[in-house]
Amino acid sequence: MVVQANRYLLLLVAAAVLAAGKGDDSEQCGVYIAESSTDHVLGSFAGKSYQRDELIGSSDAIVQAFDLRYHNRNEDEQFTAMLITFLERVGRRILMGGQPRQRSSAGHVGMINAVIYQPATLLKSDTDLLSSGYDESTSPGRGAFTLHHNLTLIAVDKITAGSEIFLDFGSEYNGYEDVTKANIDDYRKMDEAIEKIEAADEVYQFMKNDVLDLTAEARAPAARSLLPSTYHGLQEIMDKGGSALNTYPSVVKDVDWLKNNAYCQDNLVVGVSEIEHAGRGAFAKREMKKGEVVAPMPLVALNYGRKALTMTEYLNEHGQEVDSDEDAATTTVKTQQMLNYMLEHPQSSVLFFPAGPLVPYVNHGGKDANVKMIWSTKPWSNVKNAQKLEVESLSGVGAVDMIVELVATRGVIGLWREWAKAWKKHTDEWKKKMKKVTLKSAMVLNENHHSTEKAAPFPAPSEDDSDFGNENVALQCLLLYDVDKVERRRNEDGTRTKVYPWIPHPANANRLKTDSAIRSINRGGCRIVERSGDEASGYRYVVQPESNPDILVKNVPHSAIRFVDLPYRSPHHDETAFRHAIGFPDAIFPAAWKDLPGGYKDRDEL
Ligand SMILES: *[C@@H]1O[C@H](CO)[C@@H](O)[C@H](O)[C@H]1NC(C)=O
Repeated sequence: MVVQANRYLLLLVAAAVLAAGKGDDSEQCGVYIAESSTDHVLGSFAGKSYQRDELIGSSDAIVQAFDLRYHNRNEDEQFTAMLITFLERVGRRILMGGQPRQRSSAGHVGMINAVIYQPATLLKSDTDLLSSGYDESTSPGRGAFTLHHNLTLIAVDKITAGSEIFLDFGSEYNGYEDVTKANIDDYRKMDEAIEKIEAADEVYQFMKNDVLDLTAEARAPAARSLLPSTYHGLQEIMDKGGSALNTYPSVVKDVDWLKNNAYCQDNLVVGVSEIEHAGRGAFAKREMKKGEVVAPMPLVALNYGRKALTMTEYLNEHGQEVDSDEDAATTTVKTQQMLNYMLEHPQSSVLFFPAGPLVPYVNHGGKDANVKMIWSTKPWSNVKNAQKLEVESLSGVGAVDMIVELVATRGVIGLWREWAKAWKKHTDEWKKKMKKVTLKSAMVLNENHHSTEKAAPFPAPSEDDSDFGNENVALQCLLLYDVDKVERRRNEDGTRTKVYPWIPHPANANRLKTDSAIRSINRGGCRIVERSGDEASGYRYVVQPESNPDILVKNVPHSAIRFVDLPYRSPHHDETAFRHAIGFPDAIFPAAWKDLPGGYKDRDEL
């Protein structure tokens, strides 16, 4: 994340963390990044084997908040389309897994071996930041860094060392409902079944024809298509790593090949930056020698970046949004928070987003900088060609061909003066004009109720009728309930209300274990009606879902309730929040990309 505030390049690799993990298994890089086995795009590869349900990698990619709604409303279609393409590329990259390419009709989704582990972000904790002394009511870093974090992948299948990691981008994309094609669940079940079969052909035929019909039901034809005609082929399939890999062996690389030809993607871990007000920063997980690549920074170009990230709002005297040509409309100019994560050069109109896990956490190190940037040295990354292109073509270049390496050093690289000047100006002005913010953000409220120290219960209506007294936030619940177990409650006026029990998994569980209640599709506004339990036994709630106010859901666990910031009310919408891009070192900035030889004028509002 960013930092926020102080982010400039250069990581502060903290000495304290450097000592971590010597000589043990953590020395082995867990995730590599290299050219995908499927195409000339970036792919991620497992450096070690992962068990099903194991978390993959450094457990912290970041997510930027970006107000696309603004652009949908206000910009021309072509510009919005350009931004959407940019965001899609950034999103796909930052998730660090690749996407299995459709190569045959027979279930490319079988390659999927990882999903985003939604509970990691939905139930994230900010204890680290808040206990470090960060005070959102007074910090000049308020609103300068994203509060989304802890994006984590989980293995949904056994992943052998060297395998490419393929992510599930969602059931609509992958056509889960099509029963003629094997989906990720079919592959998983099939591998489970195959492992259990140690009997003869007769038993195998019985399994294949009869048992499968019972276990896979509607999906039996798809699942059956993954099996060989006789059981002798089974061991071979498992030896090759399961039913999906049997079809596509090239997705597994030799780990030694990865060591020599790929970038290690998990040298960094996230921690609270030692730079005051800087939020979180990147720290080295293992000892790194001078000259070693700390992290690859794949870039995604955003043409007309400064314009793209500027948001101009026209407001009437009541503060409502109006058309730009309306009389007496006042103009407010804000900048997307994403600017703080972008690299810029004063003589170029293009901005560059570092679309790799953890690299956007790299902060400005100033005199203590301990990494420098150089262009990729890997033969599979065609950075030479990208450096020759005109700016108009840059948005078409894949991140695979625009990789900058962060290399361990003690030297300081130049061109940070503009950023440092802007930050100083911001903090000086902040000190003079700072108004203490009194309404707490969702992050701080959630910490009260979900702190690892002492979690306060959410109040029942009898204890608080003020709706939390905070107009910037709303309460949301992660609700999945068993529709088959309805009870009816008699109300005082004689009417009855249906009450359903909360459940962690779908009652008809033929989906992944990770397909649980804690997913964003199950999250919505809710109102607490009653509370039971205590600190020792855990609090439980009866809630009324906003999407269906006629029913109640009981047994809702404390952990499934969270505050969220309402749109446009979170700290990053503060007009006073710091905004400035990171300097792209002039020494490595290609001449062909300097389309503004006279430089763009540094904006005064900073
Ligand atoms: C990140 O997610 C993992 C997996 O859910 C969880 O164990 C960990 O506590 C989370 N970390 C933070 C800081 O929220």
